[in-house]
Amino acid sequence: MAQGNSRVITTNQTGVHDKLIDLVGRYLHSPNLKPINAHTQIAFAEVSDWLDGWQGDIILDNCCGVGASTAKIAKLYPDARVIGIDKSAQRVDKHAHYAIAQDNYILVRADLNDFWRLARKAQWQCEKQYLLYPNPYPKSTQVQKRWHGSPAFLDMLALGGALVLRSNWRLYLEEVATVLTYLGTRSSIKEVNDAEPMTPFEAKYQNSGQVCWELCTIRV
Ligand SMILES: C[S@@+](CC[C@H](N)C(=O)[O-])C[C@H]1O[C@@H](n2cnc3c(N)ncnc32)[C@H](O)[C@@H]1O
Repeated sequence: MAQGNSRVITTNQTGVHDKLIDLVGRYLHSPNLKPINAHTQIAFAEVSDWLDGWQGDIILDNCCGVGASTAKIAKLYPDARVIGIDKSAQRVDKHAHYAIAQDNYILVRADLNDFWRLARKAQWQCEKQYLLYPNPYPKSTQVQKRWHGSPAFLDMLALGGALVLRSNWRLYLEEVATVLTYLGTRSSIKEVNDAEPMTPFEAKYQNSGQVCWELCTIRV
């Protein structure tokens, strides 16, 4: 494969953000009262119709981008219903190129800040959740833009299931692990070593010679 030119992430943080746990502690005690946007409400209704009262396993591919990983997960778990969610219509609309002939998965354009809240309200329980290469927001001042520094993360966790997160910025995953420990969940981080990249972003980072990392929760 051609050599990529993806830049290594640089940050002005020297370790896990020192305000992170304070932030999460605050979210635990303050309900999120922001209105839900209409397009995500509609998208959630569409997915609920597709599930049609499904009682089997549900797997979320959060921030799925073009859905290359969603199709792979659907193939890996043919008995589950797999839902890929991304806010970018431009990316979701490119899925045709990665699509596979299986009807156990769906891609939807929605804002996860709202989608997770709606799913939580509807008491979804997932078997597994992927969050592959979320935008890192590496500046210290951007900590609340990272998923684990936002109130949405608690909604995501409330949906349950084993978590798999990948990033080319190890500190991102160390922060996630710190938040999970605070909330009572153990996790581990290892280098991604798959034969094939799972997503286009993973391919891009690996072609640029960057190490990709994976965090998995440990069920006790
Ligand atoms: C770096 S890309 C990774 C995409 C894909 N997982 C991959 O590895 O190729 C991050 C993705 O997160 C999506 N995203 C960011 N904020 C989001 C939000 N609030 N709701 C849904 N998707 C979001 C972006 O649209 C983008 O596709």
